[in-house]
Amino acid sequence: MASIASFYTLHSNGSSLVLDCRSNAPAILYWGSRLYGATQPSMIALLKTRQEAQARVQGEPLLALSPEIGAGFLGTPGIQIHRAGQQWNVYSQMESVQENGQTLTISSACKATGIRIVHILSLDSETDVLQATTEVTNLESSTLWINACNAPCIPLPMDYDQILAFEGRWSNEFQLQKSQRLLGAYVRENRRGRTSHDAFPGVMVHPRETNESAGDVYALHLGWSGNHRLAVEERSEGRSYAQLGELLFPGEMSLESGESYVSPKLFGVHSANGFSGASRQLHGFVREHLTDVRMKDKLKRIHFNTWEAVYFDLTMDKLCELADEAADIGVERFVLDDGWFKGRNSEDEGLGDWYVDEAVFPEGLTPLIEYVNGKGMEFGLWLEPEMVNPKSDLYRNHPDWVLDAKPAPQVMTRNQLVLDLTRVEVQEYLFERIDSLLSEYSITYLKWDMNRSLNQPGGESGRAVTHYQTLALYKLLDRVRVAHPMVEIESCASGGGRADYGILRYTDRVWTSDTNDALDRLRVQRGFSYFFPPEFMGAHVGPEHCHVTGRRLSMALRAGVSFFGDMGVEANLLELSEEEKRELCSAIELHKKHRALLFSGDNYRLELPMFELGFGVVSPDKSEALFSYALIQTPPRSAPGVYRFKGLKSDTCYEIRVVWPEKPKSYSRSVLDVLDGAVLSGDVLMTVGTQLPILMPESLLIFHLHEVDA
Ligand code: GLA
Repeated sequence: MASIASFYTLHSNGSSLVLDCRSNAPAILYWGSRLYGATQPSMIALLKTRQEAQARVQGEPLLALSPEIGAGFLGTPGIQIHRAGQQWNVYSQMESVQENGQTLTISSACKATGIRIVHILSLDSETDVLQATTEVTNLESSTLWINACNAPCIPLPMDYDQILAFEGRWSNEFQLQKSQRLLGAYVRENRRGRTSHDAFPGVMVHPRETNESAGDVYALHLGWSGNHRLAVEERSEGRSYAQLGELLFPGEMSLESGESYVSPKLFGVHSANGFSGASRQLHGFVREHLTDVRMKDKLKRIHFNTWEAVYFDLTMDKLCELADEAADIGVERFVLDDGWFKGRNSEDEGLGDWYVDEAVFPEGLTPLIEYVNGKGMEFGLWLEPEMVNPKSDLYRNHPDWVLDAKPAPQVMTRNQLVLDLTRVEVQEYLFERIDSLLSEYSITYLKWDMNRSLNQPGGESGRAVTHYQTLALYKLLDRVRVAHPMVEIESCASGGGRADYGILRYTDRVWTSDTNDALDRLRVQRGFSYFFPPEFMGAHVGPEHCHVTGRRLSMALRAGVSFFGDMGVEANLLELSEEEKRELCSAIELHKKHRALLFSGDNYRLELPMFELGFGVVSPDKSEALFSYALIQTPPRSAPGVYRFKGLKSDTCYEIRVVWPEKPKSYSRSVLDVLDGAVLSGDVLMTVGTQLPILMPESLLIFHLHEVDA
């Protein structure tokens, strides 16, 4: 057996990770800013020497990658297993550590429980993003029951006592929630069977002084679209750590001899450049490693989506009229949302019967698609494959194909039930339906929706199947992608209920939220931006009279907010005034002009008072930038404050242009008149900043800066 060194180190551009292998199990000794030549891991070990405290154990149980019950660890154990109540006491012995480029694979055996544990850690050299998994294999002949198997445990320095998490609800996703770490555990659990609106499986943990542009932070995220548990714990002995893993129902996971369970992958990054710094690294990682190759050099398309325009009220005439208008304003992809399939006249019926509704489309979808294509647009289609309405042929023929928790009655949401994707016949039916639609029609895009939680996730055998349902979904998506590689897929779950790095491996866009209220969107999109780059962020211009909040918002604001994501339109274009249409058209033109910058640039979120919101996107070479300023509410003083740009080159001059709105309204001569076209150094733009103009509340400005010779 190869000998195991005391320490193993991975270095990336800006980070280092040191693994401590001096004990029976592996542990992270250090993960943070890059260490250089003079540093030896033993120095860190020396500095981390801990003293025995009164009335505590002699020799603290290790904060291992999987903290061990057998070792006497009193916090959440990394691996919780048993064999009919026996062999629960995990205490492993490392057997090998393999170094392979940027990856460490640590293999351990646990005699007490009869398992092998494999931890894999890899640090991306460019973006500093850490990926980590824990695998458990059953080495004995009896059944091994798994209650939990978390991704590797991340020790946190004690001064990282602030938690920034992301929570929400339908139509109000990705809201920032700040807490202070506490003695015990800060825990978020999700049992919805999808990533959820409530508890995004990601967190930023940091010292008090960290802000958007400076300071240390760990960003941690579980790339998994099923159930999860996220915990940041603090023990009374003065140690703290985070553990993220799948949340398993009783009896959900068992392994027969030779079988393995792999935890969902933990993605994490350490940044010394504040929250925006961490986001830039994560965005870089998503762009490089989670963006499908076929999407990399492909331009995004401006969408028109029929949902908030016409809902279920579909007729060929109306759709063609909408297509005319969409093409006129510069739309590039026409997406037919819910309502196109057999018997789907309302939310109550039809889900599952994925056949074109002949009552609306007597000749199938071809005439509409040809019409749309003739207008120079691609065609996209909405589907909700995992669901079935009791009022459908599919359910009438296969009432046993759904998940349940018998004998309890079915819990209904939107009059629909969840199909058991772990059943081969369900997989085959769904694949056949999707494959035949994509084969028959010229469809370049699927909006893959999922509109209810798995409240009762019992499968055919009676056991909970959320884990296997999630894998079955991935498998189905993968099959569709392999069979139709040029079809883009959007992940939607009543808006942003399924946004995570697990689903991004199979999808190309996220429908961020069902609210098209631009004011609400500002915060939803800001929250989304912590872990996801803007090209994944579906952002549509909704109706003037927002359907979700009832607020009336100007086209200038609605278009200015959508501008910063993967832009689209979801309003009834037939109801827009000529002026609104013209304004929308010019916002779309502006987006097209700048989308290459938006979708490759570095994000900077600004910290402004509650009544304002600002952020910017700077090109990687810093020669060009777009910044946005929104005045959300009436400011407390006559004039708002100062706007300081970020991320520019100090010793370079930029010409600044106010590119949105087209005609900012002003009572007196506006600051913008002075600013527009001025040539200013990066230095003063960032340190002095510009006085903001007096604006009406609910206004949004977009500044464009480009480098010029002084
Ligand atoms: C969900 C989606 C919406 C729309 C409807 C259609 O709510 O989030 O965008 O597609 O379903 O039923």
